[in-house]
Amino acid sequence: MKIAFVGDVHGCVRHALGAAVLLQERRGIRLDAVIQVGDLGAYPSPERFDGASRRFARDNPAQDDFFRLLDPSPRFAEGVRGALGQVGPMLFVSGNHEDHDWLAGLHEAAGADVVPVDPGGACRHVACGSVLALAGQRVAFLGLIEVAGKMDLDERAYTRLMGLEPGDVDVLVTHDGPYGMSRDWRGNVQGSAKLSRLIEHLQPWLHVSGHYHHVNGPRRYGRTTSYALHQLVRPKASRWDPASVNPEQRVTAGSVGLLDTDAGDFTYVHDDWLADVRGDALDLAGLVAATR
Ligand SMILES: [Fe+2]
Repeated sequence: MKIAFVGDVHGCVRHALGAAVLLQERRGIRLDAVIQVGDLGAYPSPERFDGASRRFARDNPAQDDFFRLLDPSPRFAEGVRGALGQVGPMLFVSGNHEDHDWLAGLHEAAGADVVPVDPGGACRHVACGSVLALAGQRVAFLGLIEVAGKMDLDERAYTRLMGLEPGDVDVLVTHDGPYGMSRDWRGNVQGSAKLSRLIEHLQPWLHVSGHYHHVNGPRRYGRTTSYALHQLVRPKASRWDPASVNPEQRVTAGSVGLLDTDAGDFTYVHDDWLADVRGDALDLAGLVAATR
């Protein structure tokens, strides 16, 4: 069976669904699940954006696509329906850039660990600490990042996962990554020591994360192999990394990963066609129709 993993989306939901549809079509495979590693950019309205999300969306219009998903035009809804029909819903865990209160309210209202966030049910949020059976794998989810304050790892969820036995989980999906995986441009060490301890305790055979917006892995932690995904659509311009500009808003190589559960094999997707998923206003319905 096959699971596609998608890096930080930051609102570009049409790019995410389009990449999953093309991955399935170009590789001639059937995806059994699509998992997004957080920073989907799930806010109920632009007024609820945090400061960084507001700044980036101003310069990158595709990052407003999440709001179009919540209140779609007929053409937008047709694209979402078509993608959903081909690849199924995209499950996502919390990143640090989501409206956490809004998501918590959806779970509370539904009384469920997995809740659709949009009217079409294309994106479904998975509560931190959940373990789901997907494509024959026991997949554990822990969102957010290790930092003091509102974005900090959910302590109850963390304790719950630490209470499982080693080997109870096959795949661990987190937003933050293991401690020491990389350094930022100032030289600060990146990653979470708590997540490192969780990986060492659970010993899943696979760990997949996002947050740092670059490819990182494979890294070995005991019997676990860990991978971090690139941001799905890099910004049009970057103050920190001028080489990393993306004026045409193309999907980035290494922002999608493919797990073949039978082969026990995870690979980054670097195929040229990824760059065909692009634009400020991607025509998802057109992309889906072209793959039929
Ligand atoms: Fe992010």
